[in-house]
Amino acid sequence: MSHRGLASVESQPLRMTTIEPSIIVANTSSRKLSLEGIQRPIEAELEHFKGYFRGAMRSRVFLMDQVIQYLLRQKGKQMRPLLVLLSAKAAGGIVESTYRGAALVELLHTATLVHDDVVDDSDRRRGMFSINALWKNKIAVLLGDFLLSRGLLLALDNKDYQLLHIVSDAVKRMSEGELLQIEKARKLDIDEATYFQIISDKTASLLSACTSCGASSATTDEATILLFKDFGQALGMAFQIRDDLFDFGVKDIGKPLGIDLQEKKMTLPLIYSLGKASKSEKKRILNIVRKKGKSKRDIREVATFVESSGGTTYATEKMLSFASEAHQLLERLPESDARNSLGDLVSFTVTRSK
Ligand code: IPE
Ligand code: IPE
Ligand code: MG
Ligand code: MG
Repeated sequence: MSHRGLASVESQPLRMTTIEPSIIVANTSSRKLSLEGIQRPIEAELEHFKGYFRGAMRSRVFLMDQVIQYLLRQKGKQMRPLLVLLSAKAAGGIVESTYRGAALVELLHTATLVHDDVVDDSDRRRGMFSINALWKNKIAVLLGDFLLSRGLLLALDNKDYQLLHIVSDAVKRMSEGELLQIEKARKLDIDEATYFQIISDKTASLLSACTSCGASSATTDEATILLFKDFGQALGMAFQIRDDLFDFGVKDIGKPLGIDLQEKKMTLPLIYSLGKASKSEKKRILNIVRKKGKSKRDIREVATFVESSGGTTYATEKMLSFASEAHQLLERLPESDARNSLGDLVSFTVTRSK
C-alpha cells in the first residue's frame, strides 16, 4: 500500500495550531478530562456492558472466532456505548434494554470500521494492523456483515423495535455519507455545505443514535429524547472535525496519517484553504490531491499550505462552535453526575489525542 510509510512524517514535525484549552474547558471547571474520569458515574454499568459485548461477539465458525478474538484485542475508546449509558442515566436511569442499545451501537461501529479500512485501503486501526491488512478484504467484508447482523439480531430477539428503528436509520445514513464522500473524491468539487452533509451522515448520525437510544430506553418524554438526539448530533459534528484535523497532523493516533489526502478526501481545513487561495495556488494544490501514490513530501506540502492559509484554525473554530452548541443543550437538563460527564465528554472530544 502506497501510504504505509506515512507514519515517518512524524520525524519532521510540522507546527500545527494548538487549541486553546481554556476555551474548551470553560464549562467543565478544572476537572481533568480523561475517559476514566468521564466513566465514573457508570463504572459498574460499563463493566457489565463489557461482558455483555464479548458474549455478543461469539461465532461458532472457527475462522470467524479467531478474527473476532483479534478484534477484541484492538482497544477502541468505546465512546458510543459510553454515550448510550450516560444518556440513559441522565435521562432517568439505565435499564436492561440500555445495555442492548450500547452493545448494538458498538457492534455496528466496529463493523463500520472494519469495512471502512477496506474502503479506505488502510492498514492500521487502533494501534494495530487492520483486519484487511492481516486477513485481506474478503474476510474483512464478511466479518463486518457478521457484526452488523449480530447487532441487529440482538435487538430483534428482544423486540426492541424503537432501538432498531433509530439505529437502522443511522446505518442507512452512514452508507449514504460514505458514498457521497466517494463521489466528491472523484470529482474534487466538494464545498463546505457538502462536507457538513457528509460528516453529519457518516458520523453524527451514529452518535446521535447513541444519545437518542440511550434516552429513549430511560424515558418516554419526546422532548427529552429530541434534546438528546440534537446533543449527539452536535457532538458528532465536532467529533468528525477533530478526526479530520488529525489527518493533517504528525502525532501517532493509532491509524495512518495523511490517508484522507491519499484517498483524495478533501475535508474542512483544506476546503477552507482552497477557497482562500489564488487561482494558480489552487491549481497547484489540486494537482497534488489528484496524484496517485502521493509522497510524504506531497502530503507535507498540502499540510503546510492548509496550516499557513488558516484552514486548521478555521476548522478548529467550527469544531468548537459545535461543541459549544452541545454544551448549551446539556444545560437544559437537570444537573447530575451523568450530565456533567456528558459535558466532559464534549470537551474530551475536541481535545482528545486519538
Ligand atoms: C473512528 O471513531 C471513526 C470516526 C467516526 C472518525 P473512533 O475514534 O470513536 O474509533 P475507536 O472506536 O475509538 O477506535
Ligand atoms: C470512519 O470514517 C467510518 C465512518 C465514520 C462511517 P473515516 O474513514 O473518516 O475515519 P477513520 O479516520 O478511518 O477512523
Ligand atoms: Mg472512510
Ligand atoms: Mg478511514
